[in-house]
Amino acid sequence: MSKILVTSALPYINGVPHLGHMAGCLLPSDVYARFQRLMGNEVLYIGGTDEHGTTSEVGALKAGMDVQSYCDMYHERHAKIYQDFELSFDFFGRTSTPENKEATYHIFEQLDKNGYIKEKAVKQVYSIDDKMFLADRYITGTCPYCGYDKARGDQCENCTKVLEPTELIDARSTISGSTNLEVRETKHLFLDLPKLEGKLAEWVKTKEPFWPDVAYTIAQKWLKEGLQERCITRDLKWGFPVNKPGYEDKVFYVWFDAPIGYIGITKQWEALDKQNRRWQDWWMNPKEVRHVEFMGKDNVPYHSITFPATLLGTGEDWTQVDFLKGFSYLTYDGGKFSKSENRGVFAEDAVKEFPADYWRYWIMANSPESSDSSFTWDLFAGAVNKDLNGVLGNFVSRVLKMTSSKLGDKVPEGGEYGDLEKNLINTLQEKVNNYIRFMEQMEFRKALAELRAIWVEGNNYITVAEPWSVIKEDEARAKVILRACINLIRIFALLSAPIMPATSEKILQKFKVSLSEIKNFNVEKEVEFFKGGESFEIGDMPFERIAPEKVEEMKIKYGSSK
Ligand code: MF3
Ligand code: ZN
Repeated sequence: MSKILVTSALPYINGVPHLGHMAGCLLPSDVYARFQRLMGNEVLYIGGTDEHGTTSEVGALKAGMDVQSYCDMYHERHAKIYQDFELSFDFFGRTSTPENKEATYHIFEQLDKNGYIKEKAVKQVYSIDDKMFLADRYITGTCPYCGYDKARGDQCENCTKVLEPTELIDARSTISGSTNLEVRETKHLFLDLPKLEGKLAEWVKTKEPFWPDVAYTIAQKWLKEGLQERCITRDLKWGFPVNKPGYEDKVFYVWFDAPIGYIGITKQWEALDKQNRRWQDWWMNPKEVRHVEFMGKDNVPYHSITFPATLLGTGEDWTQVDFLKGFSYLTYDGGKFSKSENRGVFAEDAVKEFPADYWRYWIMANSPESSDSSFTWDLFAGAVNKDLNGVLGNFVSRVLKMTSSKLGDKVPEGGEYGDLEKNLINTLQEKVNNYIRFMEQMEFRKALAELRAIWVEGNNYITVAEPWSVIKEDEARAKVILRACINLIRIFALLSAPIMPATSEKILQKFKVSLSEIKNFNVEKEVEFFKGGESFEIGDMPFERIAPEKVEEMKIKYGSSK
């Protein structure tokens, strides 16, 4: 049994998550955490809200609330949404807690002691009309590297290059649109990344075979271009006050304490853990822990360069990321999700319209892994109707109804599996091995295609075996076939559990059995799980079809033009 630490990028508190957020790290991290638990590994799955920074200050201001209450409210809202999506966090915490402050202060002190913190006078953008220093995100302009005209002061969304706001061409305030900006000088603290470059390059080398293309390429690109000092303090009120004399009126930059938040949140978890497990067993245990991080591609530089360098600079033995799974974007009809323009499905509404498992299945089957993918209602309804209803759901209800009406509500007994079943077992074993391998490698699209192919084998088998006609002449043989089918239903439910936990549970409940490990999954053995005589209930269909009228209604309601 290995220890696997799974983290999902911490969503900004002020944004309400839409399907793109679910696809870009939250859902795949959950699927992976569930999968690894099913494989019998010890998993700690951590998430939370990223609460500092100007966006929270501005959001609270707009809502007419103080920042703390604003964050409290939004934190609950996020937590509820992720619960509704069945995300199985061991702990869902926050970055603004005393635990994270303690972790942030400690890491900063070590960096400072080791000479990796530099003081510099910097020129900062002050908005005369807004009467404030503008945080990087609140300055918009043209990217000096790729020419994108809506680049933000902290990062260009188009080319992922991390920017200093003064680099932007034609800068303007995002808050008021004012170009009446002035550069003022003030002192700030910088993380000396150039000084850490050697250590970092060494470390990246040790990760090479484990890093998927996106992450490795981005990290290499950064190292090749040479690292620059990064400012880690800001002139704001909301944040952790800097614990260094002369800087008391400044706070740490949100991107400094946010990734440390993974550690801070684990400390929060420790405080509440009933088994008295310790945060250090996860975070200061690089030899025993495998740390897997999930995030959107814009987060990759921070997790492959800045945060690892921060930890390296402490000189302490931190658990570093071992595998970094980055995602492209999920778009809506090929465009952006926008709450204000009522375009796109936001997570809160999604689960009111359809069960979470429908979304979980569609999103994972269409995961924006190597490039962006686009949500459309037709694709969604097509997958629910064809794959879930037509393949999996139909198999489950057809087998149980047929068995019940011809032979009663018990798994049929007697007889032995023959050649047809042996073939089925071989075919399935190969597909199951692929599925498990793809899940281990976090190749989710491939894993889901394999899972669907596994369900299809059930339908192929029953079509060839024809229990409905066999039963007329050879009841004993029909019993063998239906018993095989019922065992397949359980196998399908087990394998589908990481993707569709509620459906899996619902199917297993028909037989009053629970989840069990899928490590070294042996189809030959599993197909003998029900030996005959066990009772079952037909119950509800696992899924419901989405009618064409409903699809049209959704398109209108959620601003789809397709
Ligand atoms: N809040 C950031 C975003 O939503 C992600 C922060 S990840 C963290 O893009 F690890 F730094 F918290
Ligand atoms: Zn750019």
